[in-house]
Amino acid sequence: MPQDQTPEDPRAQVESARDAFEREFERFAALTAESAGLKSPDDPEVLLRDVSEFRTKHLGKKSVLAASKKLIGKVSPEERAAFGQLVQQIESDIVEKIERTEQSLRARVESLRTAREAVDVTLPGRRPHRGHLHPITVVRQRIEDIFVSLGYAIEDGREIETDFFNFDALNIPDNHPARATQDTFYTTDGYALRSQTSTVQIHAMQRRGAPLRMIAPGRVFRRDTPDPTHNPMFFQVEGLCVDRGITMAHLKGTVAEFLRRMFGERTVTRFRPSYFPFTEPSAEFDFSCFKCGGSGCRICKNSGWIELGGSGMVHPNVLRGVGVDPEEFSGFAFGLGIDRMVALMYGLDDIRLLFENDIRFLSQFD
Ligand code: DAH
Repeated sequence: MPQDQTPEDPRAQVESARDAFEREFERFAALTAESAGLKSPDDPEVLLRDVSEFRTKHLGKKSVLAASKKLIGKVSPEERAAFGQLVQQIESDIVEKIERTEQSLRARVESLRTAREAVDVTLPGRRPHRGHLHPITVVRQRIEDIFVSLGYAIEDGREIETDFFNFDALNIPDNHPARATQDTFYTTDGYALRSQTSTVQIHAMQRRGAPLRMIAPGRVFRRDTPDPTHNPMFFQVEGLCVDRGITMAHLKGTVAEFLRRMFGERTVTRFRPSYFPFTEPSAEFDFSCFKCGGSGCRICKNSGWIELGGSGMVHPNVLRGVGVDPEEFSGFAFGLGIDRMVALMYGLDDIRLLFENDIRFLSQFD
């Protein structure tokens, strides 16, 4: 049928448009009822989109209804008013039904969204996971606190050193057997990872001269195969006190006081003659077992004593090397391993646990 020709029966055309609408609308009609069987929260949103297509189909420019509206001017004048009313009546009916459907779908979308996003404010919150300090840090800080209260400064050393600081300046010349026991890791350009914190003695005296009192906690490295009591990387604390008239009595008094504050008033300290290239005389020190008090137990391997570190009077060669006159000044030095101390205090049977970063292990020290 050509566009500009009036169909046989315009009334029949518009009525069939209405019937087609009614038939297809059945699908949505049920939705306006309250419990419209919409399972997932997405359903009403999908349906809203369908309704919008449905609106275009039945009310849009290309709809049968739109075509019927154009006929109003073409029907015979006697029929025009009644036909126009019919078309308008059908259009407003369709508009009204579609809008009601959209409204109820929108309400449905809204209430499902509210239900989905609802928060039960009475539920207990999730506790944030708080970290804590590593046991080595805890012990290091306790050691620092004790020495700071005794008037010692805390020195920060460097972990990469030259042979000069790690050995020569500490009175360990080339070919000295002490180099072998402190073998470390070397770079190709003459640097090495320090094997002891004693290197900081040299830096501190070079920079500050005498008198001075300092401790230097830090990481050191040795070419050791890891086992329960060895690790190629571990922590030490170095101590150094240089002044006029410093004697072995000051060394013994300082170490004994430190250990009393660390392990309790009744701790007894013992010095045994020993050898270190950078001290003369040298001594190793032990303290009475903090667990059994000296009677013997598993921790002190039944000896009653725990070996802790090395010490001695700073060798005149070391003082001379940094430009401090050994005729005027004397000093004592000591060094001890923090990891070993941590292992003893926390009853660890393998120091490697301290460096494996296993949260199940570390979280026990909160
Ligand atoms: N640096 C030594 C070591 O790693 C420990 C030590 C011994 C430090 C005697 C000292 C000391 O300051 O006087 O085995």
